[in-house]
Amino acid sequence: MKASDQPRTYRVKSFGCQMNVYDGERMAELLDARGIAPAAEGEEADLVVLNTCHIREKAAEKVYSDIGRITKAGRAAGKRPLIAVAGCVAQAEGEEIMARSPAVSMVVGPQAYHRLPDMLDRAVAGERATDTDMPAIAKFAALPDRRRVAPTAFLTVQEGCDKFCTYCVVPYTRGAEISRPFNDLVDEAKRLVEAGAKEVTLLGQNVSAWSGEDSRGRVQGLDGLIRELARIPEVQRIRYTTSHPADMDEGLVAAHGEVEKLMPFLHLPVQSGSDRVLRAMNRSHTADSYLRLLERFREARPDIALSGDFIVGFPGETEAEFEETLALVDSVGYAQAFSFKYSPRPGTPAATMEGQVAPEVMDERLQRLQAALNRDQLAFNRASVGRTCQVLVERRGKHPGQWLGKSPWLQSVWFSEKGGSHCAIGDMVTVRLLEGGPNSMRGQVIGGK
Ligand code: SAH
Ligand code: SF4
Ligand code: F3S
Repeated sequence: MKASDQPRTYRVKSFGCQMNVYDGERMAELLDARGIAPAAEGEEADLVVLNTCHIREKAAEKVYSDIGRITKAGRAAGKRPLIAVAGCVAQAEGEEIMARSPAVSMVVGPQAYHRLPDMLDRAVAGERATDTDMPAIAKFAALPDRRRVAPTAFLTVQEGCDKFCTYCVVPYTRGAEISRPFNDLVDEAKRLVEAGAKEVTLLGQNVSAWSGEDSRGRVQGLDGLIRELARIPEVQRIRYTTSHPADMDEGLVAAHGEVEKLMPFLHLPVQSGSDRVLRAMNRSHTADSYLRLLERFREARPDIALSGDFIVGFPGETEAEFEETLALVDSVGYAQAFSFKYSPRPGTPAATMEGQVAPEVMDERLQRLQAALNRDQLAFNRASVGRTCQVLVERRGKHPGQWLGKSPWLQSVWFSEKGGSHCAIGDMVTVRLLEGGPNSMRGQVIGGK
């Protein structure tokens, strides 16, 4: 391969979960620190980082078609862009991508992206490099400081997963569960608020499994970390995601009742309402233990909004077992939720289980499940009408004077400025919720910051 010019501009495209969004931001910061600038909108970048997701269907195909599109658009603009494939597809299929796609000069896994600048030097010199090592958490120490951020910021506190749900690739793409040290996280949260963040969302594939030693050497769980972050005056809101029912302890339940800055929202995936399916998924909880857990959160924080993830059509799932999922949904009353058709992932135990469910059956189940979840989301939003709450302003709306922000319950809220007073991104305003739609609320500002 020929040597390339030093890239002047970059674009990072992140797919998948919030962890990938966080990693994408950190890669952008690494490139900024190298004096490479983000490409302007509509402009072809000299360097494109595809930060990929492997969780469901056609992940690799999508990467190849993106590579084709980038190469073609670059050529039309008279460029030969450098392409890096990062993220979970890079981890799972890096070697294959290198072999199949000569346009790619760098493949870098989720635990190795701090080495991107070195790889870039080699790519500029005409070499191709793959780095899918999993050094324990080394990357964080090698990353530059946080730069200016939006009012809502992600903070990865825990990575990897030891749960091995039988359908899931994450334990293979992200490696074993590792917690970042307490003090590093407190420092990074301080940097984030100095850089403009008001709300910090703590991220981990199993965020509730986080543990660490505080500055006095005491072992803390996620609740201890949350309590410490709540002491930082500029941190106004704290959220966390995603949790596994097996790691939710009393301390975390109690924190929801006691820490005002911890928002009344819990995303707790359940996947299925059938105990037989949950066992086959290796979920280590039952439908009933999950429901009892939610009850404890509701006791601690009666207005808590609940969210979940669901998979329909897991191998062997019968109509009756699927109906158990619908029954669970009915009894919880989710404020929002994500639901997916089961997708066989190469190398996972479920992919070779008997009783793979036909696509049309999955389609039909997904439709019924989503109808139930949409019904409950609308009901939750309608039940919020009349509430007064704080809204963190995230962006402008389409019309002049219109803004969009989030309620404590993670609802999107549209509202207009009060005559004479002006909002800005990052303001915390008091809003009365006036109308509840399927995906958002409309409100009216009744007070300032
Ligand atoms: N660590 C988190 C997130 C995992 S991925 C957790 O445990 O919740 C997010 C969601 O994707 C999962 O909760 C699950 O609902 C879905 N998912 C994962 N693997 C899948 C697969 N093979 N097919 C369909 N959905 C899947
Ligand atoms: Fe995947 Fe299960 Fe781990 Fe979540 S807990 S990342 S679904 S293996
Ligand atoms: Fe996707 Fe990897 Fe996240 S597979 S969901 S980007 S951990």
